[in-house]
Amino acid sequence: MTTVKKPFPERYAGRTVAITGAAQGLGLAMAERFASEGAALALIDVNESLLAETADLLRGAHGVPVSGTVVDVTDSTQVNAWIASTEAAHGAVDVLVNNAGIIRDNRIENISDADWDAVVDVSLKGAFLCARAAFAGMRSRGYGRIVSFSSMSWRGNFGQANYVAAKSGIVGLTRALALEGARYGITANAIAPGLIETPMLASMDDAARELLTRKIPQRHTGDPADIAEGAAFLASEAAGYITGVVLDIDGGISIGSSIR
Ligand SMILES: NC(=O)c1ccc[n+]([C@@H]2O[C@H](COP(=O)([O-])OP(=O)(O)OC[C@H]3O[C@@H](n4cnc5c(N)ncnc54)[C@H](O)[C@@H]3O)[C@@H](O)[C@H]2O)c1
Repeated sequence: MTTVKKPFPERYAGRTVAITGAAQGLGLAMAERFASEGAALALIDVNESLLAETADLLRGAHGVPVSGTVVDVTDSTQVNAWIASTEAAHGAVDVLVNNAGIIRDNRIENISDADWDAVVDVSLKGAFLCARAAFAGMRSRGYGRIVSFSSMSWRGNFGQANYVAAKSGIVGLTRALALEGARYGITANAIAPGLIETPMLASMDDAARELLTRKIPQRHTGDPADIAEGAAFLASEAAGYITGVVLDIDGGISIGSSIR
């Protein structure tokens, strides 16, 4: 394992970072990165036991305030209460990371109503509900960073119509939020990861995984730390003039034609 040098140990001191789907995978990696740079963390997930473990781990390792609350991002009452209690406890939500997402892959004729709704609700509606809840406070304080999770799939992918719709929806939501937030010191950007080593990727079968890895120009999958690097940059104060962009972090897989 390479040791990642942290050039900004105090970059997030005094900032509160709220992350959805933070119990594992990319959410956990980003939480670690923000904590290592001094942020207070407000983490949510639907996996109660894993979230409690994650929050304990981060609190112990970095000595920053960390709350772990069971919140379903598809439930506006829970989301509103989470943002309000975070603002009450920390004075602000400076950074919102809309990371929670699920997959229910199938060809179009086999996607059930429930699998369409589940994927679009968690990824897209969840991001909307969290952004809506955090926006007023960010606007009144004249500062906010919203980073939402799209995917390389947003440009279109076979057997993922529900996920593609949700992840291209994230691009549209991000661009609209960027326009509405611009005059209030709020930026909104999206990250489109390629194939990153998380539990979500572990659910992919070996053949599909092998095929996709061969299509990555860098010829290897990404590490969650690669995504955390991008998130820590986009959510920083210094990135204030960057808004409405989609940052591909994918070893080059999104470059060029899909016919290779
Ligand atoms: N891993 C990849 O290769 C990859 C690639 C492209 C995009 N992404 C996107 O990155 C994000 C994180 O992916 P990951 O690989 O870490 O996934 P993951 O499955 O490892 O983690 C997702 C987390 O979200 C939580 N979650 C699910 N439904 C929720 C809900 N309703 N409310 C709150 N939390 C909920 C899960 O419990 C889990 O802890 C997702 O939006 C995913 O679509 C991942």
